[in-house]
Amino acid sequence: MNSSLSLFNLMHPDILADPYPFYHRLQTEAPIHWDPYVKAWVCTSYTEVAAALRDPRLSTERLLPSEALASLGLQDMIPIYAVLERQLLFIDHSDHTRLRALMNRAFTARRAEEMRSYIQRIVDQLLDTVESRGSMDVVRDLAYPLPITIIAELLGVPVEDREQLKKWSDDYASVLGSFQSIPDNLASVLQSVSEMGAYFDAIILRRRQEPRDDLISALIAAQETDNQISQAELIKNCILLLAAGHETTTNLIANGIYTLLRFPEQKDRFLTDPTIVASAIEEMLRYESPAQYTSRKALTDLEIGGQLIRQRQVVILIMGAANRDPARFPDPDHFDISRHDNKHLAFGYAAHFCLGAALARVEGQVAIQTVAQRFPLLRMDLQLPTWRENVNVRGLASFHVRVDSS
Ligand code: HEM
Repeated sequence: MNSSLSLFNLMHPDILADPYPFYHRLQTEAPIHWDPYVKAWVCTSYTEVAAALRDPRLSTERLLPSEALASLGLQDMIPIYAVLERQLLFIDHSDHTRLRALMNRAFTARRAEEMRSYIQRIVDQLLDTVESRGSMDVVRDLAYPLPITIIAELLGVPVEDREQLKKWSDDYASVLGSFQSIPDNLASVLQSVSEMGAYFDAIILRRRQEPRDDLISALIAAQETDNQISQAELIKNCILLLAAGHETTTNLIANGIYTLLRFPEQKDRFLTDPTIVASAIEEMLRYESPAQYTSRKALTDLEIGGQLIRQRQVVILIMGAANRDPARFPDPDHFDISRHDNKHLAFGYAAHFCLGAALARVEGQVAIQTVAQRFPLLRMDLQLPTWRENVNVRGLASFHVRVDSS
């Protein structure tokens, strides 16, 4: 394979800032191809990414077993992998159906909608703080603190523990994109993972004795009805909710506001038509997808786009590329907040479709609409935003805007 088509190129600063010309090149020259550098098949076309996400022959059970980790010199990562094991995102078929049904019962769209006024209150408080300053870093001042506050409230953990949860969850998330190497902050990550496990163990015990109106109590209630989820599974999936609900939503909010400011005519439309917010959020998710790709492992030999995928080979499915596929979305690089027929794959698809999509949508809608209404003269500061050095989690490291009227 031509090395200029390898996913390694995504680390180049120019491609990291704007990966879409590179994705379009892959779509034209090699929509499904073996990448020897990442040792996986890479898939970029909408039709094939969507088909792969719903194909039961492609498994989410893709974690390396302990022996394989040891043979790669990654034995220090074993406790981290152990937490991922049994999380929804890493199990399949009947096991996944059982656990997902239980989590669905506790994590409903209604529960997310009921959070709307609480989300509004937190957004208002965060914006009160920045208003007098005349400027803000959208990431630091709004997009980062909001989701962790919301997920902590939903889970029902005490307010005073939130800073601690944020630190644990940041540590944990920092290794999720770099499995094949030992992170520099390994000691801190290992400590966080172990403390997080003990923390949720204790809180689940407390809620079992004294249930409240929160997600952990709802999960326990569902568990007690079915008796089909172990304490360990409950702990690991609380950790998943904390981690999955945090960074991705941060990036939806910051990427969304950034994109709106890059397209002033769309910003004006957003400001003048309050009914457009829901479709605008979908377009933001399509245009700058916070989770750029996922992966699956072949359970059997199979064919994708005319290529033979062998059993146990890994396929990387780039939703960020599929969401800009011209074969699916007319004029895909145009940001259009009233776009119709916008069935993007930013939340995945089929059995593993994002459990928190309804909550993320409400958070995005409230945060972005409130910023636009409260600061109609919102504009980018001279300091240009920078993208984080992460090819999967697409988000801005910082993003300074002026919120004053002078
Ligand atoms: C799954 C994206 C917010 C919890 C997923 C998947 C994607 C995704 C792409 C599927 C991955 C795959 O199939 O391999 C996002 C984005 C979000 C977001 C872009 C924000 C904009 C949230 C929130 C929560 C959450 C707020 C919870 C509080 C989950 C869980 C799964 C998941 C538990 C696993 C579902 C399963 O395997 O059955 N998310 N997510 N996500 N997400 Fe989200």
